[in-house]
Amino acid sequence: MRMLNLTVNGRVHDVPVDDNELLLDVLRTKVGCTSVREGCGVGACGACTVLVDGRSVSSCLALAVRHDGAEIVTADGLPGDDAVVEAFVECGAMQCGYCIPGFVLMTHELLAENPQPDAEQIAAHLEGNICRCGTYPEICAAVTSAAARGARL
Ligand code: FES
Ligand code: FES
Repeated sequence: MRMLNLTVNGRVHDVPVDDNELLLDVLRTKVGCTSVREGCGVGACGACTVLVDGRSVSSCLALAVRHDGAEIVTADGLPGDDAVVEAFVECGAMQCGYCIPGFVLMTHELLAENPQPDAEQIAAHLEGNICRCGTYPEICAAVTSAAARGARL
């Protein structure tokens, strides 16, 4: 067991972790960010996505101890007027609570790298968020809408 320092959604946390603990479990059970979801648990679905120092990470594959000192953003830490979330709502990009947090965070990552992505670039960036059982076309439209609003974290 060792102490891990994480800044999560702007708040500093010092949490005791075992060497084999996953970032997913630390965020959910020790930091209280339950928007971080476990879907497949093997890096294949995108549900557990968080932003670590601005880059998307599958937290189900990430050892927590490798992230000492990291700045992490989870979906529940986004502001109430987050432009990406607003675009998702307005475009009807509603899916289950397992899928949407990862899609929203991947959208933020994409727009930080590429503020005006085209349809192909949106599809490529969201490729790892595998659920297509709900509103995938609306999600793609929401990304375009968020880009038009100049969405930024
Ligand atoms: S739960 Fe991590 S990628 Fe599916
Ligand atoms: S599994 Fe969440 S909407 Fe498909």
